[in-house]
Amino acid sequence: MDKWTVHVEVRLKERASARFESIRNHVHSYITSVDRLAIPSLLDGWDDIPELASSVEKITVCESQCPAPSLTMEEMALQIHVYKPSDSEAFEEFSNSSGNRNDEDDTMAATVCDLPNKNYEGLWDSLVYADDVKMKLLDYIHATLIFSDANVDLNLVSWNRVVLLHGPPGTGKTSLCRALAQKLSIRLSHRQASPFPLWIRHLTQLQFNRYSHTRLLEINSHSLFSKWFSESGKLVQRLFNSITELVEEEDVFVVVLIDEVESLTAARAGAMAGTEPSDGLRVVNALLTQLDKLKQRKNVLVMATSNLVKAIDTAFLDRADIVQYVDLPSREAIYEILRSALCEIILKGIIMPIIVPTLKEVQIYDLMNSSVEKSDATDPQARSKAVGLRLLALATQCREQGMSGRALRRLPVLALARYIGIGNLFNTQVFSGTSKESQGTSAEVWLDGMEKAVREHVQESGKLS
Ligand SMILES: Nc1ncnc2c1ncn2[C@@H]1O[C@H](COP(=O)(O)OP(=O)(O)O)[C@@H](O)[C@H]1O
Ligand SMILES: [Mg+2]
Repeated sequence: MDKWTVHVEVRLKERASARFESIRNHVHSYITSVDRLAIPSLLDGWDDIPELASSVEKITVCESQCPAPSLTMEEMALQIHVYKPSDSEAFEEFSNSSGNRNDEDDTMAATVCDLPNKNYEGLWDSLVYADDVKMKLLDYIHATLIFSDANVDLNLVSWNRVVLLHGPPGTGKTSLCRALAQKLSIRLSHRQASPFPLWIRHLTQLQFNRYSHTRLLEINSHSLFSKWFSESGKLVQRLFNSITELVEEEDVFVVVLIDEVESLTAARAGAMAGTEPSDGLRVVNALLTQLDKLKQRKNVLVMATSNLVKAIDTAFLDRADIVQYVDLPSREAIYEILRSALCEIILKGIIMPIIVPTLKEVQIYDLMNSSVEKSDATDPQARSKAVGLRLLALATQCREQGMSGRALRRLPVLALARYIGIGNLFNTQVFSGTSKESQGTSAEVWLDGMEKAVREHVQESGKLS
């Protein structure tokens, strides 16, 4: 029987000094002692194992391709990844200067950061999509790693290590790239022999490439192009020379994020049409040449985002192995996004405690066509149901307006600033820790506020169009 691969991510505490290998063994024996693992889930019950309790912050059983909600030990091939996120806050600047300190061109064109990074913890889970975009992308990256490990002849089977995410602004493309890079760094730090199905292991002599470090390099396309307009072609080349240097270290995996790539590559079409100076042409050509060189490297992945795929140079588009459209959130995704936002402010004591139904629950309420009478307002269960249904109705409205993830995430702030009033918050002493009785405002007040904020959004977008 083939087993399902299940990834388990073990995040260590900041001050943990235990060896990763030893933690992995402890986690492995703990998991083998339980009958079934729910997938995905947050693992608990390990805190009475002293070695784990002292070092481990969190153990996550990640989503898997397996359709079942839980698996037994016999049904899964465990991949346990132990990691400690780096807290290097200050991103290293990657300057493009020629080395001359007085060089006026010494402006930041890219930033580098070590992964996994604290700043990106939780980002993956916070992104909600209707179709399985996240798993699809992760699977693609795993697939390229299999080919790299197998030393596939690039003349026969080739790919460019380029992924392009495109779609309307505010749909989480930049965030998704960072989250993917973070995931990848967690999964790469220790790779074991079992992630491959048996047939692949039989077919190939896999040599594992181990990557002890992962770095994320973000290129700011706008600054690259505008700052050094007259010689940006050379500068792209210089930037990529530095990337090549990074990639020289074979145990470092480098994820290159080219954000809003259209600003770099839109130029060529213009240049060809004779409406842009030929400098634009040089930039794109330099970029394409450099990308072609990078594809020989095993330890690099290029992720690009764009709000405007039509503006992208076709030669660049052609190099992308995966072109993924990232759509505006569906009604269901919107519900999850709004729910996670509400739950967060409940957790922080700004809203009085209430259970906001999960999507599945609220869908059942919705199917049962349950209406809640006013008299039920004191019954916590009835209130929770009512709040869920109202939130679902709000989600439907947001969907009709085609609101982006970014617009949704700021609804609570708008609601507070414009409709609830910061003064009202202080009156009810919401801030957690200040007093035991402090309870915050009610969820219903917040729903009112958010509904008004959505109505205002509708009016404002009416004026724009
Ligand atoms: N599908 C989504 N699910 C959850 N949050 C989202 C989603 N789309 C966007 N967001 C939120 O909106 C914000 C902006 O996302 P960003 O990655 O900058 O979008 P883009 O690069 O597509 O313009 C992020 O903070 C993110 O949390
Ligand atoms: Mg973006």
